Amino acid sequence: MEEKPIALIDLETYNDGTASLALVVAPEMRGKGISTRIHKDIWGIPEMTGINKIIGGIEPANVAMISSLKKAGAKISKEINAEGYIVTEQNRPAGERE
Ligand SMILES: CC(C)(COP(=O)(O)OP(=O)(O)OC[C@H]1O[C@@H](n2cnc3c(N)ncnc32)[C@H](O)[C@@H]1OP(=O)(O)O)[C@@H](O)C(=O)NCCC(=O)NCCS
Repeated sequence: MEEKPIALIDLETYNDGTASLALVVAPEMRGKGISTRIHKDIWGIPEMTGINKIIGGIEPANVAMISSLKKAGAKISKEINAEGYIVTEQNRPAGERE
């Protein structure tokens, strides 16, 4: 059976308790909720110990990412920053242990 990656995740964690997450879902797997699921479930992995916030920057035209992050409970800024990105913030959900 041929194995194909469904997504590529680049998670960077910082010592101020924040992290950034870059994600690419394979084109044929998009629209199935994979990005939303990753953003919801990421808190459970050991690498997220001590992390309370994921901060991101999205291009305003990236409606799929904005929609996916909203469904995962992220706050989406209404403004565009100096670099041309919408800033997003996802806090550790109350139910997720650190
Ligand atoms: C952005 C990306 C990660 C989303 O992954 P995904 O697994 O398809 O996302 P989900 O299925 O969890 O949710 C996507 C949401 O956007 C919607 N959507 C998907 N493609 C869309 C499109 N082209 N236009 C509008 N909405 C779209 C989906 O319907 C879904 O929303 P809904 O459930 O309310 O209908 C994926 O499109 C991707 O890899 N894009 C290229 C890389 C990229 O932009 N990465 C993010 C950089 S910040």
